Amino acid sequence: MEAHLGAYRLLRRIGRGGMAEVYLGMRQGAFGFQRRVVVKCLHDHLCGSPDAETRFVEEAQLGSLLEHSNIVPVLDLGISGGRLFMVMEYVDGLDLKTLLAGHGALSLGLALHVGRCVSRGLAYAQALRDPGGQALGIVHRDVSPSNILIARDGSVKLADFGVAKAAGREKTRAGVVKGKYAYMSPEQVEQRELDGRSDLFSLGAVLYEAVTGERLFVGNGPLEIMEAVREAGVVGALEALRGEVSPLGPLLGRALCRGREERFADARELERALAAALIEHGSAHPEEQLGAAVAEVLGRAERAEAPGEDSHASTLESRAAEVARSLQQEESVTQHFQRAAPVDAQKLQAMPGGLATSAGSVSESSVTSRYQLRRLQGEGEGEGEE
Ligand SMILES: Nc1ncnc2c1ncn2[C@@H]1O[C@H](COP(=O)(O)OP(=O)(O)OP(=O)(O)O)[C@@H](O)[C@H]1O
Ligand SMILES: [Mg+2]
Repeated sequence: MEAHLGAYRLLRRIGRGGMAEVYLGMRQGAFGFQRRVVVKCLHDHLCGSPDAETRFVEEAQLGSLLEHSNIVPVLDLGISGGRLFMVMEYVDGLDLKTLLAGHGALSLGLALHVGRCVSRGLAYAQALRDPGGQALGIVHRDVSPSNILIARDGSVKLADFGVAKAAGREKTRAGVVKGKYAYMSPEQVEQRELDGRSDLFSLGAVLYEAVTGERLFVGNGPLEIMEAVREAGVVGALEALRGEVSPLGPLLGRALCRGREERFADARELERALAAALIEHGSAHPEEQLGAAVAEVLGRAERAEAPGEDSHASTLESRAAEVARSLQQEESVTQHFQRAAPVDAQKLQAMPGGLATSAGSVSESSVTSRYQLRRLQGEGEGEGEE
């Protein structure tokens, strides 16, 4: 793999899905300009496949239509050396799957906040229309913990409308069931035509997991899991929600109805229900608390990363070790920009919205930490789902 794709320098692989590999990248511009991005590259073995390439391009085009604070924006689509790639905004934080693994189950207030943000993003996408006023009929199809990204400030963004399709552009593939089995809707498992209510079911399964730390639909292997989803027998599990999280039961009961006619009518309706529950039961500042949880998990991973470190050692020492390590990692980028950037770094720093750090010193420590956290969890780099 070349280290550059067009104007993007690839720094580190952070994920691997069915169609593409995901990298942390750096957008390089004039005068030492740089900005972290995420670059998603079509797998080598799919390059040259007209079917895969068409889907990839269509997905990027669909992504380019979505502009909302609760959706990770697609910034660019490119081709380099015959390889298609899509560029997304980098979210400096953790995905919900990693957060749950590092923090444990969320409080009711935090889960309601995550649910409200995701349903807000979905409501926006579901309401999108073409210039002629025709509803686009966008369905995400892969609402799952690893596609919900939470930044250090507690903001929540839904990523990867990657298997989303606008109605009319959809090409179904017999035998290909996309997404992660445990978060599919019954109609998705049955490969029926989907509408936005499929995503509400998926979000229901995600929120159940967020407050319990347990998957709602389990089984030995994909077939058993899909059978559990198809049956959608959730009553017992929801009735067992006790204590603080019990108010979530009736709400999830509606999102997780087997028949979509009985669910919330659309994401806007679910969002309103979650917002009302948040006012009644939640905390005043869920965003701050969620951001603190993300920072705490990332901080723990950073400390665990320090070789031979006593976990009770002074934070100052560990911070010093961390800075030294990140400087080593960034050396190549720094050297590059020092050569390429005959500009006054102080001036750049003083510019409103300008570089927060001097040219070439953008930190990768949060990405390193996330990577380390996954390794500590024994997941390994780029491991797929089920
Ligand atoms: N825009 C982004 N900013 C920051 N991290 C990201 C971004 N996109 C993806 N990631 C990280 O990379 C991980 C892997 O992403 P990827 O989309 O390849 O896998 P996935 O989400 O597990 O699977 P899929 O999206 O195919 O269902 C994510 O879980 C997340 O931690
Ligand atoms: Mg993803």
